[in-house]
Amino acid sequence: MLTHTLSPDAHLRLLEEADADELYALLDANRAHLRRWLPFLDSTTSPADSLGFIRSTRKQVSDNQGYSLAIVYKGRIVGCCGYHNINWINKKTSIGYWLAEDAQGKGLVTAAVRALLDNAFHNWGLNRVEIRAAVANEKSQAIPRRLGFTEEGIVKESEWLYDRYVDHIAFAMLAGDWKRTGQ
Ligand SMILES: CC(C)(COP(=O)(O)OP(=O)(O)OC[C@H]1O[C@@H](n2cnc3c(N)ncnc32)[C@H](O)[C@@H]1OP(=O)(O)O)[C@@H](O)C(=O)NCCC(=O)NCCS
Repeated sequence: MLTHTLSPDAHLRLLEEADADELYALLDANRAHLRRWLPFLDSTTSPADSLGFIRSTRKQVSDNQGYSLAIVYKGRIVGCCGYHNINWINKKTSIGYWLAEDAQGKGLVTAAVRALLDNAFHNWGLNRVEIRAAVANEKSQAIPRRLGFTEEGIVKESEWLYDRYVDHIAFAMLAGDWKRTGQ
């Protein structure tokens, strides 16, 4: 599922090296919005850093560790989503995502995560998909809640975010539960 249509206006696709300038410009324009919850903004200071990220996403594919995809809306990149890596022994993975501020509110990430879940369970035969969101990041928590994930508890000081540790809420979807939701 390296490309996937979400709607007539939106699709997911692999990032290309040629996307580096566009991706960096998007991150730079959304620095304050994204820096609140994502740890990589201060280490992303030029298109070369975005190119390095894009190359890492290609290595992830060649290493059979899942992938990260661009979220494209009306012909422009508006965010990213993907698997962090895959634990093939225990048949589980985790998912992350972000969107430009002006691309929020359209259901793009909810639809993207739905597609990533379908792929993980149906194409790869995984059993468990996790999403973690900071306890104060209600917009991020709304995505697993909307899709019927189970809230499993608080993971204390799970992430270092520039100058402080952040507690996360852990959510999980199991293959059997996803099948039962019929989504
Ligand atoms: C987390 C983040 C991706 C959520 O973005 P989002 O736009 O709220 O999520 P979605 O794209 O799924 O859209 C859901 C919104 O669209 C609305 N919507 C419209 N059509 C919809 C549809 N067909 N399906 C679902 N939702 C729809 C929903 O009501 C919701 O809006 P609301 O919050 O006002 O109720 C975004 O806020 C972000 O990038 N934040 C900064 C980075 C971050 O926190 N990343 C996650 C770290 S764990």
